[in-house]
Amino acid sequence: MNRVFIKTYGCQMNERDSEAVAAMLRARGYRIVGDENDCDVLLLNTCSVRDAAEQKAIGKAGYAQHRKKKNPDFILGILGCMAQNRGAELLDRLPDVDLIVGTQKFHQVPDYLDNLRAARAAGVPVGASIVDIAEEAGSQNTIRDHLEPDAEATPQVGAFVSIQQGCNMDCAFCIVPKTRGDERSRPMDEIVAECRTLAERGVREITLLGQIVTSYGRRDYVHTNGISPFVQLLERVHAISGIERIRFTSPHPRGFKQDLVEAYGRLPKLCGYVHLPMQSGSNRILRAMNRPYTRERYLEIVNALRAVRSDMYFSTDIIVGFPGETEEDFQQTRELFEAVNYDMAYIFKYSIRTGTPAATLPDQVSEEAKEARNQLLLDLLQKNSLRRNDLLLGTVEEVLVEGPAKNGARFTGRTRGNRVAIFDAHPRLIGSLVPLKIERASVSTLYGELVLSGVAEVA
Ligand code: SAH
Ligand code: F3S
Repeated sequence: MNRVFIKTYGCQMNERDSEAVAAMLRARGYRIVGDENDCDVLLLNTCSVRDAAEQKAIGKAGYAQHRKKKNPDFILGILGCMAQNRGAELLDRLPDVDLIVGTQKFHQVPDYLDNLRAARAAGVPVGASIVDIAEEAGSQNTIRDHLEPDAEATPQVGAFVSIQQGCNMDCAFCIVPKTRGDERSRPMDEIVAECRTLAERGVREITLLGQIVTSYGRRDYVHTNGISPFVQLLERVHAISGIERIRFTSPHPRGFKQDLVEAYGRLPKLCGYVHLPMQSGSNRILRAMNRPYTRERYLEIVNALRAVRSDMYFSTDIIVGFPGETEEDFQQTRELFEAVNYDMAYIFKYSIRTGTPAATLPDQVSEEAKEARNQLLLDLLQKNSLRRNDLLLGTVEEVLVEGPAKNGARFTGRTRGNRVAIFDAHPRLIGSLVPLKIERASVSTLYGELVLSGVAEVA
């Protein structure tokens, strides 16, 4: 009766939230299982950023409701962004959902499940749902639990660490300020302590997470010698022995100042891969999106970073078909997209989100135009990505060995530039940084052989 399966939709932040919920539930005596068809409690941690993401979770929940007919004790919960966005209204469509928990209440999930199970055990009729989407001061400090690896599991090599919640930017297209609330930062000491604990457990790579990490701590800490609180945090994580690689997502171009650019010159653990959301390459559309930077400024940041590290990798988020986007606007995006030469990109067709300023704008773009623009950028990306991977043929890249690859006997890891690599390895190399000679490349994957001389002592 205590087997829980958590299905996660959306971004890395959601992955991290799910992991924290799993850790809290395990501490409370629940079992986290890997088969959604064989669980007593199904929790969907949802995403609202695009309509398609919401529809997927609603479809899943609709289907899962039928399981109650066979097993009246089965518990179905909807957590996270869609729970926050739609609240009790979800029950109109999904009357058999037991639990709706918003983004500031993840830490309450164990109590709510205990209560639901106790009510079932006491014979209280099934039907009363728990809905909690209230705001909670300090909730940014509750996402701190990590799953303790069990003895047989592959050791954890990389970990996400949440450094802030919410966002105050109000980009015209974005539902996140509504679903995630006001921007709040976690105390720096707590983040550093969490990273230290992870390092002691064998974690080698930390990814700091937030909606707008470049704003981290701006209300709580001061700049010292021109160094922003976010860069101060990077310095402190960098000083932790055992941590070999640091990444973060996502910065905002507005906050990407010289101190952060220079950090790449003096903090070698900072991986040379930057995810820098562009959204559009048209200044007119950027203004309409309420994104306070220009294409010129964006390119300046990219060039400044390449000046510090010539082999820097870039990825981005782009929205095509924002209301009013003309063919000329799109050409500006395409031009900037080509100028930056992205190695990775998430390209989205604009999706109307009720309650955001852009939802009611005139000149919504047709689905056909969105599709064509989307496809064009995807084609460009494929070419760029392959070209970049081809350049690595015959070279040696450092990989962090993460574990067995999904299908087959080989192993997987990533380069500093965040390229996925597949190779043969011994399990004892998991968690080691090993040079890899690249022998073959596809658009998304590098294949090669580990160069093992001299790494025996690391293993
Ligand atoms: N601040 C976060 C953004 C979260 S939303 C970050 O930078 O990671 C993730 C991405 O989804 C955004 O960058 C944007 O490109 C896309 N997105 C947000 N709202 C959207 C919408 N209404 N339609 C299409 N894409 C959207
Ligand atoms: Fe959304 Fe813009 Fe914040 S994309 S999360 S409102 S920076």
